[in-house]
Amino acid sequence: MTKGTFYITTPIYYPSDKLHIGHSYTTVAADAMARYKRLKGYDVMFLTGTDEHGQKIQRIANEKGVTPQEYVDHIVSGIKELWKLMKISNDKFIRTTDDYHVKAVQKIFKKLYDQGDIYKSEYEGWYCTPCESFWTETQLGDDKKCPDCGRPVELKKEESYFFRLSKYRDDLIRYIEEHPEFIQPESRRNEMMNNFLKKGLEDLCVSRTTFDWGIPVEFDKGHVVYVWIDALSNYITALGYLSEDESLFEKFWPADVHLVGKEIVRFHTIIWPAMLMALDLPIPKQVFGHGWLVLSGGKMSKSKGNVVDPVVLVNKYGLDAIRYFLLREMPFGADGLFSNEALIGRINADLANDLGNLVSRTVAMIDKYFDGAIPEERTGGDFDKELIDTVLAVPPKVDEKMEQLEFSLALTEIWKAIAKTNKYIDETTPWLLAKDEKQKPRLAQVMYNLAESIRIVSILIQPFLVETPPLIWEQLGIKDPKETEWDSVYRWGGYKIGNKVQKGKVIFPRIDLDQELKKLDNLLSGKASSEQKKEEKKEDKKAEQKQEEPDIITIDDFAKIDFRTVTVLEAERVEGAEKLLKLKVRMGDEIRQVVSGIAKYYEPEELIGKNMILVANLKPVKIRGIESQGMILA
Ligand code: ME8
Ligand code: MG
Repeated sequence: MTKGTFYITTPIYYPSDKLHIGHSYTTVAADAMARYKRLKGYDVMFLTGTDEHGQKIQRIANEKGVTPQEYVDHIVSGIKELWKLMKISNDKFIRTTDDYHVKAVQKIFKKLYDQGDIYKSEYEGWYCTPCESFWTETQLGDDKKCPDCGRPVELKKEESYFFRLSKYRDDLIRYIEEHPEFIQPESRRNEMMNNFLKKGLEDLCVSRTTFDWGIPVEFDKGHVVYVWIDALSNYITALGYLSEDESLFEKFWPADVHLVGKEIVRFHTIIWPAMLMALDLPIPKQVFGHGWLVLSGGKMSKSKGNVVDPVVLVNKYGLDAIRYFLLREMPFGADGLFSNEALIGRINADLANDLGNLVSRTVAMIDKYFDGAIPEERTGGDFDKELIDTVLAVPPKVDEKMEQLEFSLALTEIWKAIAKTNKYIDETTPWLLAKDEKQKPRLAQVMYNLAESIRIVSILIQPFLVETPPLIWEQLGIKDPKETEWDSVYRWGGYKIGNKVQKGKVIFPRIDLDQELKKLDNLLSGKASSEQKKEEKKEDKKAEQKQEEPDIITIDDFAKIDFRTVTVLEAERVEGAEKLLKLKVRMGDEIRQVVSGIAKYYEPEELIGKNMILVANLKPVKIRGIESQGMILA
C-alpha cells in the first residue's frame, strides 16, 4: 500500500558544457526529496534530463567540428556519469533529442496551431545569443545589455510562430491568486505578479528559422520549435503524454513540484501554466524557485567560466560531505556563497566532530565496556528523559520541514538530536560509571540510549547522506531491516539488545583547513598562481625528464633498482596536465601514490585493478605539486 504518488522534477540542463556544482545543487535537492518521499511510502517519479536543442549548442558543435548530436551525446554521457557518482536516484532521464519527445512536441505544436493558440507573424527583438533569450526594451534598460548575463544584445528580425500568451493573462492571475502554494517561495510569487503579469504579457515567439538544430515544425519546414515549448513539454512527454501509452501520465500528472533556479521561475509559472491551460491539462501543484550558489565573483555560469567541478569535490571529500554541504549551507530559497572554507568548516564541525565522533565514541565504549553487546540488565537515570524527549521531538519536525522543502532546517533539526546526544555523554560520564562495578546496569542504559539515538539519526539522514547510514548500521551491529524503517523513528527503543557493535573506520576524517584550502583553490580553479605555476612547471620538467630520458646506466646501477609488482587501486587525471595520471597502488601492505606520464595511453578506469611494475626505490618527487613515490613502467 502506498500513500499516493509523488512527481518531482529538476530543470532539464543544457548540455552546452560539463555541469557544475550549481546544477548538482538542484539535482541533489530533488534527490533528497525523492528519497524522503520513498522512505515515507510514496510511489515516486523523479525526473531529470537534458535540454539539447538550440543555436548555442549548434554553434559550439560547429566550432568543435562535430555534429550537434555527437556533441550532446558526449556531454550527456558525462552528465549521466555525474549523477551516478552523486547517487542521484532519478527514475527517468529525458533527452529532448529522444524520439518520443520529438514526436510529442510536434503534436503539441500542431494541436496549439490548429486551435488558434499558435499563429504565424514576424518577430523583431533584442536577442542575447549565449542566453538564447529575446528581451523587451523595458527589460534591457538603457545600456542594451542582457539582464541575465550582462553581455550586449543584438536586434533581430525573423518570420516566426507565436503562442498567444497574452490571452491567458487573466486566467493566470486568477490561478495564482487562488493557489498561493503554486509559486514558492512567496517572494517569487510577488515578483511574478508585480513584474510580469500585472504589467501585461506579450505573445511568445515559439519558432525559429535562423538555425536548424531543433524539432522541425512538421507543417512548415524551415521552422524549428524554439526552446520553451520544446523544453517545458519534457515534464509531460517524459510520462508518455500523446504517446501510445499514457499510463504514467495518468498516474503522475500534475507534478507535485518542479524544482528550478530562480532565473527560470518566470518560464515555469507563466509560460508553462499558460501552455497547459491551452492544452486543457492540470497545472503542476508547485514550482519552487530556489536561490543561487554564488562564488565571490558572482553566479557560477558555464558561459562565464567561473565554475566549480562537482566531480573534483566528490572525489576529494566524498559524496556525503558534498551532499550535506549543498543541502545544509543555505536556506533553499536564498542565495548562498560557495567557498572552500565554508565547505571544509561544515565537514569538520558537523560531520567529523558532531556526527562522526559520536558514532566512533559510542561504538568504542560499547566495545570496551561490554565487549560489543549491550546487556539486558539496565537501569535508567538522570538525563535520560531529557535526551529521549529531545530526540523524539525531531522526526515530526523533519517531516514538517521536508514538506516545505526546507532541507537546511530539516538538517538543523537532526543536528539538534546529535548535539543533545553528545551532551548526554558529558552529562552521564560513562568513563566514571565504568569504574564502579555496581554501576554496570546504569552504564548499560547510557550505552543503549546512545545507540538508540544514533539509530534514529541514521534513519533521518538517509534522504541527504546516502553512503553514511549503512556504515553506521554496520558499526552499531544493526542487521534487521525493521530497525531501520522510517516509521520506527517516532518511538524510542528500536535498537535491539543482542546487536554486536563493530569498530570500523572513521566515517568523516577531519581536514586540515589551511593546507587543504591552498590545494583546493588551485585544483578547483584549474589555475595556480603564476609563481606556483612556474615552480610546478620546473618540477614537472625535472620529473618528466627523469621519467622519460634516464641517463645511461651501468649493470650495477640496474641491479640497485627495486622492481616491484603493484596493483592499481585508484587512477585519475591530473587537472591541467594532459599527460599525467595520479595513481594509488598497493605494494604488499603499503599504499603508494605515483604520478605517471601515461595519460595518453590509458584511460584511468581501465587501469584500476591492473598489476603493473613499479620502480619502488626512486627518490620521491613532486609533480604538479603532487608527491610521486616511485615510477610506473608501462
Ligand atoms: O536553464 N546555483 O538550463 P541550465 C543554483 N535548459 N542553481 C544553479 C546554478 C547556480 N549557480 N547554476 C545552475 C536551463 N543552476 C534550461 C532549463 S527547464 C524546462 C529548461 C541550476 O543548464 C538551476 O536549477 O542553464 C537552474 O535553474 C538550472 O541549473 C539552469 O540550468
Ligand atoms: Mg542558464
